[in-house]
Amino acid sequence: MTKVAVIGGTGLNDLGAAAEPLGNLQTPYGPASALPQRLQFGDQAVLFLARHGQPHQIAPHDINYRANLWLLAQFGVRRILAVNAVGGIAADLGPGALAVPDQLIDYTWGRASSFSGPDQLLHVDFTEPFTPELRHALIAGAAQAGIALTDGGTYACTQGPRLETAAEINRLERDGCSLVGMTAMPEAALARELGLDYASLCLVVNPAAGRGSGPITESSMRAVMAAGMQQARSVLQEAVRRL
Ligand code: HPA
Repeated sequence: MTKVAVIGGTGLNDLGAAAEPLGNLQTPYGPASALPQRLQFGDQAVLFLARHGQPHQIAPHDINYRANLWLLAQFGVRRILAVNAVGGIAADLGPGALAVPDQLIDYTWGRASSFSGPDQLLHVDFTEPFTPELRHALIAGAAQAGIALTDGGTYACTQGPRLETAAEINRLERDGCSLVGMTAMPEAALARELGLDYASLCLVVNPAAGRGSGPITESSMRAVMAAGMQQARSVLQEAVRRL
């Protein structure tokens, strides 16, 4: 059984290897974003799930995070390496930077964010939202691949899909956040509820609002994405070898 999964975000809709789609999308929580794909990644078998669907069409606040996580767990997945495109708040996290955050703050609202229900109330410990062992695999993987990566940082998860105002980014910075994205929550918390290990590899695709020299454009994000995600693939491949 394949124990490691990669959840790909914006800019990472495949891992660059031939993939076999599995099963069907339906879960007790509704349809998942896409069929998980089994593929050989380096010398390891992994499952890949496209968070925004294939093709990319589901906005961050509309993603069925519960279905995605539940489906991966059904396939025997125990560990998840998530890839997230983010904005950089900290001055040293400019476009193209890779980071493995060690904390997060959840600013989302209205998302189905727990497997708790009338039969089962879950109060999972979330002191450390990202699994240290997986974080270390990503950090060691980057070192092995010769790719610079920032170890640590606090990921602010905003609701989107719009980007933030400059004042909102100032507030996130005052809160101690160095990265801002829209998809790590409730994904990380749901993984914890299911007992799955989870870590995030973030690619900075733009300076956060008010931190760059002008408006944030999709074309400028895309320009960073292609090369950055190729680096992310190399980091993932080395990380997966360590798991
Ligand atoms: N803010 C929120 N999410 C993002 C950003 C951003 O600036 N860039 C990529 N995802």
